Amino acid sequence: MSNYHIKNLEEYYQVYRKSVRDPENFWEEVAEEHFVWRKRWNKVLEWDFTKPEVKWFEGAQLNITENCIDRHLPTRGNKTAIIFEPNDPKEEAQHITYRELHERVCQMANVLRDKGIQKGDRVCIYLPMIPELAVAVLACARIGAIHSVVFAGFSATALATRINDSDCKMVITSDGSYRGAKTIDLKGIVDDALESCDCVTTVLVAKRIQSEIFMKEGRDHWLQPLLDNAYKDFTAEVMNAEDPLFILYTSGSTGMPKGMVHTTGGYMVYTAYSFKNVFQYREHDVYWCTADIGWITGHSYIVYGPLANGATTVMFEGVPSYPDFGRFWEIVEKHKVNQFYTAPTAIRALAKENLTFVEKYDLSSLKVLGTVGEPINEEAWHWYDDVIGKGQTPIVDTWWQTETGGIMISPIPFATPTIPTFATLPLPGIQPCLMDENGQEIKGRPANGRLCVKFPWPSMARTIWGNHQRYKDTYFSAFENMYFTGDGALRDNTGYYRITGRVDDVIIVSGHNLGTAPIEDAINEHPAVAESAIVGFPHDIKGNALYGYVILKETGEERNHDNLRKEINQLITEKIGPIAKLDKIQFTSGLPKTRSGKIMRRILRKIAHKDTSSLGDTSTLLNPEVVEEIMENAL
Ligand code: WT7
Repeated sequence: MSNYHIKNLEEYYQVYRKSVRDPENFWEEVAEEHFVWRKRWNKVLEWDFTKPEVKWFEGAQLNITENCIDRHLPTRGNKTAIIFEPNDPKEEAQHITYRELHERVCQMANVLRDKGIQKGDRVCIYLPMIPELAVAVLACARIGAIHSVVFAGFSATALATRINDSDCKMVITSDGSYRGAKTIDLKGIVDDALESCDCVTTVLVAKRIQSEIFMKEGRDHWLQPLLDNAYKDFTAEVMNAEDPLFILYTSGSTGMPKGMVHTTGGYMVYTAYSFKNVFQYREHDVYWCTADIGWITGHSYIVYGPLANGATTVMFEGVPSYPDFGRFWEIVEKHKVNQFYTAPTAIRALAKENLTFVEKYDLSSLKVLGTVGEPINEEAWHWYDDVIGKGQTPIVDTWWQTETGGIMISPIPFATPTIPTFATLPLPGIQPCLMDENGQEIKGRPANGRLCVKFPWPSMARTIWGNHQRYKDTYFSAFENMYFTGDGALRDNTGYYRITGRVDDVIIVSGHNLGTAPIEDAINEHPAVAESAIVGFPHDIKGNALYGYVILKETGEERNHDNLRKEINQLITEKIGPIAKLDKIQFTSGLPKTRSGKIMRRILRKIAHKDTSSLGDTSTLLNPEVVEEIMENAL
């Protein structure tokens, strides 16, 4: 029996029990057998959730790119590492072999070093889904610089906040990007952002859309000529297992986005391990995850996890609806994709379209279907199963978070029997539990509670960049000695978990984690707005959409509400990005508040859900009368 590759349910239970009985021994075996280390660790695990402090493979040295690239060269040098599928299907796909990837990453690493980037420096990457994005990520890792990828759909303000928070020296971007029939002026967004970022001294610009752009003398450089002149070899920097590999920002219910810090050794071991098992990847398979590398899904399961296994991973630049709703399936047929990993929001959007978009294509290569990002509803699950999987392709509903670095709860295909909407069982090494509101663990089955994890796992985030206290407060303070996920979950008689959704003020829209606070801050910047509160409400395709309650300033003047709605959404687009736009905006004279001044979101949520039968006790509110008004005018 191998720990590394589970093939049936009995093996799963055996491996799982072993991983819980002696986690250190378990992960040590995995780390020893499947990776190359420059120096072995002194200790597998040291941890203390009260500080919190977690260290995996302390004392070990490695470079993750040697594991993701170099060590494959003797056996897989000519194997395709990355298939790049462009936005426009008429443009030819690129097949980048492991050898070519090695050269390109080395060239990029040389360019970074020439431009003054050193181990430990932060580099912001703001690129569309083109090969340069994966290459830039890996080049940072090779040189020991900490990458901070910002999804190229974020606005200039959001980009600037993230650049400043982690004090990035450099931005790697492109002249622009394609998104379906549209082009986006990425460099213009970077220029705007950099108006308020003094830390950035260099901008490298990849050419993608051949647009005329402004290049600032001394700061901005075209990337390609630099790459062309760079050596194709670069000695990888030797990193400690606990050195930061990257920062990735995620929204919280309050305040600034949180720069989650992931470190090198444990992250590598866990993403590789989970990739292999959750997707049952075999040597000649073609694997495709439709996420953007700007999210954790792309970091862990487009780049690091697949490459650490010597896999072939598809990078798709475009959108599911361009040139038509058959695009995903066309790509599956074209590249004979074996494992396909996407989000419920994409599944719901495609399920609405005519079946002919699917039926035109041969999907017989598919062996495993995956989903991530939010709870998948039963209808979408069945459509995925029947129409895409033809009833014979296991679906892995994978639950995890930016903070967890890798998949935590998921079926193992061909081993774990699936039930729609259940993420099923924890992967080896993962010890989830459910807590009640009094902070007690609920041990029985079935049970319903707040989902926590009671033992460290190798890929967990170690801190929030620049704010360890916030890391502690957010994840380790709700329950003693536990990592709190922010999600609620249900456990059935067989021990299967079903994630029921967030229990905090994070709203998941189209699989994107949106904190209420930054959006409210953006709305409140409108000169006519006094105060606002946003909540989620169910939406057919997006899962949740945003509903805003807005109090206008008393000016005595009549304002045109439709125009205001447009302006508010415009402001949100500028401050955060179009993903955070509100579907509904209700103007109101007040918001229900507790005596201590806290907005009662529970009530607002119920009204937005059109579920006002049981609003609960409103008599303790400071202003109970406002609830009537809000209900009457609800949208
Ligand atoms: C939140 C994390 C992990 C990559 C994508 C999102 C929700 C994620 C599932 C799932 C139910 C899910 C949770 C989680 N979520 N996957 N399979 N079933 N809910 O990463 O932006 O950090 O969001 O997404 O609420 O806490 P993220």
